[in-house]
Order: sequence, then C-alpha cells, then structure tokens
Amino acid sequence: MKILVLHGINLDMLGQRDPAQYGHATLADVDAQLQALAAELGAELACFQTNHEGALCERIHQALREAADGVVINAAAWTHTSVAIRDALEMLKCPRVEVHMSNIHAREPFRRHSYVAEVATGQICGFGVDSYLLGLRACVDQVRARQNEKN
Ligand code: DQA
Repeated sequence: MKILVLHGINLDMLGQRDPAQYGHATLADVDAQLQALAAELGAELACFQTNHEGALCERIHQALREAADGVVINAAAWTHTSVAIRDALEMLKCPRVEVHMSNIHAREPFRRHSYVAEVATGQICGFGVDSYLLGLRACVDQVRARQNEKN
C-alpha cells in the first residue's frame, strides 16, 4: 500500500514557527514519526513538502499517474485559498485525508473555510503532530476498507 503525505507552504518552518499553535517538532521529526507508524501499519510512505502551489499540484498529478493508494494532506494556508489544489485533489479517486496541526475552527474566521474539505474523505485537526498520525491511520483504514469491498 502506497501512501503519500503532502505538506504545504510554510510547513518546512515547523519547530521555529508559532510554537503555541504548532509545537516544537520539526518537519523532519513529523516525517520520522509518520515513517515509523507506516512501517507498523504495513504501508509504504512518501513525504513531500513545497512552498510552491504549482509544484504541489504537479505532485498530486504524479500521485494519480503512480496510482497512490491514499493521500494525507496538510495544505497549510492554501487550504483556505486554493481552488487549484482542490481541483487537483478532486481528480484522485483514492482516500484523501485532510489534516491540520491546529484546530482551524477555533482560530481566525478566515481559517474556518477549507477548499480541501470539499474533496476530502475526512478532516482531522487540533492534535498537533498526532493529527498527522491519526490521519495516516484513518487513511490506511479507508484503503483497507475499499480493498475488502472489492474482494
Ligand atoms: C495549518 C493551519 C493553517 O490555517 C495554517 O495556514 C498553516 C498550518 C495547521 O496545520 O494547523 O500553515 O494547516
């Protein structure tokens, strides 16, 4: 099972960026925890971060070509602005789990709307690094459930 984790703009700054919202873990720490959990769950994980919106869209197109089994995405600020990322995600037919470290519903009003949510299987937010880990578990469960339906 191939799962892709996508990190959007500014998430390369985790560890230095607003620790009250995002804690002290770096992106490398997050990816290491995800890789350890993926190994436990029997999934193969690729992680990708970019500060360029088009590059994120192209990575999503690549996921379609590679037939990724599932995607976990923290689109960061693009969550609230990007129709382009929403449309790219819509093309994928696999489970897509939206994650956020902070609780986007309990912050500034502009963070409450998510374009990603419209095309996601579900959303997990507010649990710091655990949002990613819960998101990966949910994604793997969704993929397995679909595989069981087919058999
Ligand atoms: C975020 C929440 C977004 O509103 C914000 O722009 C981010 C990070 C989160 O993980 O909590 O960059 O996606």
